[in-house]
Amino acid sequence: MAVLITGIGELTTNDAELGKLRDAAVVVEGETIAWAGSAADAPDADERIDVDGRAVLPGWVDSHTHLVFAGDRTAEFEARMAGKAYSAGGIAVTVDATRSASDEQLAANLRRHVDEAVKQGTTCLETKTGYGLNVEDEVRSARIAADVADEVTFLGAHLVPPGADAESYVDLVCGDMLDAVAPLVRWADVFCETGAFDEAQSARVLKVARERGLGLRVHGNQLGEGPGVRLAVELGAASVDHCTYLSEADVEALAASDTVATLLPACDLSTRQPLAPARRLLDAGATVALASNANPGSSYTTSMAFCVTTAVLQMRMTIEEAVWSATAGGARALRRDDVGVLRPGARADLQVLEAPSVTHLAYRPGVPLTAAVWRRGELLTSGFASKR
Ligand code: NIG
Repeated sequence: MAVLITGIGELTTNDAELGKLRDAAVVVEGETIAWAGSAADAPDADERIDVDGRAVLPGWVDSHTHLVFAGDRTAEFEARMAGKAYSAGGIAVTVDATRSASDEQLAANLRRHVDEAVKQGTTCLETKTGYGLNVEDEVRSARIAADVADEVTFLGAHLVPPGADAESYVDLVCGDMLDAVAPLVRWADVFCETGAFDEAQSARVLKVARERGLGLRVHGNQLGEGPGVRLAVELGAASVDHCTYLSEADVEALAASDTVATLLPACDLSTRQPLAPARRLLDAGATVALASNANPGSSYTTSMAFCVTTAVLQMRMTIEEAVWSATAGGARALRRDDVGVLRPGARADLQVLEAPSVTHLAYRPGVPLTAAVWRRGELLTSGFASKR
C-alpha cells in the first residue's frame, strides 16, 4: 500500500539532489520511500495524510547508546552534581546490577528505553554490550540487543572487571569472549582511556576484532587527550566517539580520514566536561555525528533533539549541520546509506515536527516537538489529527 504524506511545509531530505524542499510530499510504500518531491507533482497513492504545513525530516539515527543494562546510578549523578569527577569506575556498579538481572528484565528495560527514543523521533539505533564483562553476560547482552536494536556493538573492552588482571582480561576479550559474541554483532568497540584500556590493549582488541570481520568503533578522548582518535583513524574505525579533548593533530587526522567524529553533548554536560569542539572539527573538514550516548552513568537521556538543541545553542553548529549530524551523520558513523536520508529506495524512517521548520528544534529548547514518527514505513506514533 502506498501512503502519500503531503502538506509538508519544509522537507529535509539530506539528499544532494533533492535538497531542502518547501510545500513538499513523500510517498511511503511498504518499508521504503517510493517518491519525494514537490507536493504539486506528487503521484496518486492509496492513502493520503496531510501534515498541514509541519516540517518533516529523516528519523534520528542514534549511533551510540548503551541500553542493555539494569540498575540505577542516581547517587553517582548527585555526587557529580555536588562536584565529584566522573570516572570509568562507575561502570562496575551497572555491571553488578546487569549480571544480577534476568534476561526478561534486561530485555524489558531495553525495549522501554528504545520505545522512549522512538516516541522522540529516533528510528535507527545502535546499542552495545559492555555491562556483562564475562563471556556469559556479554553473550546474553548481545543476544538481547540483537532482538531489538538496528545495530549491535561488542564492548567487552569497556572496563577491566574489578579484581581481574588487565592483561588476562584482554586475553579473554580477544579469545573466548570474541569467539562467542562475534556471530551476534556487526561492530567491536573499546574504551581507550585512562582507567579503562591503554593504547596497546585497545589496539590489540581492535585488530583481533577486525581480523574476525567486525567493523570498528572506539570510545576515545572522553576524559582527556589520548591515543583514542589516532588509533581509530590508523585502524580505519567507522567512528570515534566522545572526542571531547582533541589536539590539533587529532582534528587533522579526523579531517583527512573516513572516521566519523561522533560527539555526545548530553554526556559532556552530564559529566561536567567541556562540550566537544564541533566547530573546530567541522571547519577542518571532519565528518561529525551527534548521538545520545544513552546509558545509566554518564548520559541518561534518549533525546536526540536535546543533543541537536545543545549542538546549536552551545557548540556553534548551525541547525542544518546539527540535524544532518543527528541523521545522515549517524548513518555515516554506522556506514549505512539506507537511513538518515529521505530519497526513493531509502528506509521509510521519518519524523514530523510540531513546527514549521527544523529551526524550531533550537528556537524552542526543551519543548517536545515530535508530532509523528514512521519507522520502516509504519506510523508508530502520531500526536496530530491527520486528514485521511
Ligand atoms: O560512553 N565511556 C564509556 N562508556 C560510557 C559510560 C558508561 C557508564 O558510565 O556506565 C560512555 O560514556
